[in-house]
Amino acid sequence: MSSTKLDTPTLAEKYDQYLGDSQFNNGLNLIEKLGIETGNNVLDIGCGTGRLAEYVAKTVGKKGKVTGIDPSPHRIKVASRKGKPSLNLSFELGNGEDLSRFKNKSFDRVYLNAVFHWIENKSATLAQIHRILKPGGKLGLTFTSKNIQKAFSADRQAVDRLLKKEPYASAVKSDEETPRHPITTDELALLLINSGFEDIKLDIKQNTTYYPSAKEYFEKREAGGHGNFLTNVPEELREQFKADYSKELEKNKTPQGIEFTNYSQVATATNNGWNNEKL
Ligand SMILES: C[S@@+](CC[C@H](N)C(=O)[O-])C[C@H]1O[C@@H](n2cnc3c(N)ncnc32)[C@H](O)[C@@H]1O
Repeated sequence: MSSTKLDTPTLAEKYDQYLGDSQFNNGLNLIEKLGIETGNNVLDIGCGTGRLAEYVAKTVGKKGKVTGIDPSPHRIKVASRKGKPSLNLSFELGNGEDLSRFKNKSFDRVYLNAVFHWIENKSATLAQIHRILKPGGKLGLTFTSKNIQKAFSADRQAVDRLLKKEPYASAVKSDEETPRHPITTDELALLLINSGFEDIKLDIKQNTTYYPSAKEYFEKREAGGHGNFLTNVPEELREQFKADYSKELEKNKTPQGIEFTNYSQVATATNNGWNNEKL
């Protein structure tokens, strides 16, 4: 089931203009590690509003091609404005869990930037990515590891403190955004190995961001989560929860603003070419 039915044109526009800056910056780091070259054929799964794909299109040049897919029509509409002037960049509505439209061994690079936690059937998706990658082709993804996030992120800890108290303890589902499917670093490594990838590299990038107030932080989460932020909290409790959540976040206030440190992980892996024929 797609997580994108709560997305709106306004969330997509704001994400494109500035609320997606941190994802874009993490994406630049991912692209560097993937070693994308002139002439490469590249697939961006969950391309959102297309900022990163537009950047990659400049790298692959006229002899290369970048295709972005995303299940949100609002995000694809914004992205398509970027695709028009350049023939080597195109965007299509599409879900990462169904890559059947793409030919075997057709891509040099496939990446998912801040998307993998929205994918429900991860092993089926990885098997399809393996099928469409050329032997020796590379997959890259950035993701937030479930266990690292729980142990170190200030906002995750703020939510956990609240969820221990009533009226939230009995009414709120454990994750703060649904329908997310986060995994741990170990789980990712196993999935990649079992899906036929080798030369797996995992790296942790520490990001510290400051927000003037909890309101700005909530706006960012809302746009980044395409409308799913706090949908696990029953509607009648949501405003109260936000107010209590703000108080918890204010505890991290510094002279520069409310401080957030998160650890985003970057994984790259190479298609070993073994079972391409069988998939
Ligand atoms: C945080 S945004 C990242 C967007 C973009 N990759 C970037 O770097 O800015 C997450 C994106 O994942 C998309 N998404 C959600 N479920 C998906 C799925 N099953 N397959 C592909 N994309 C999905 C959302 O529509 C949204 O655009």
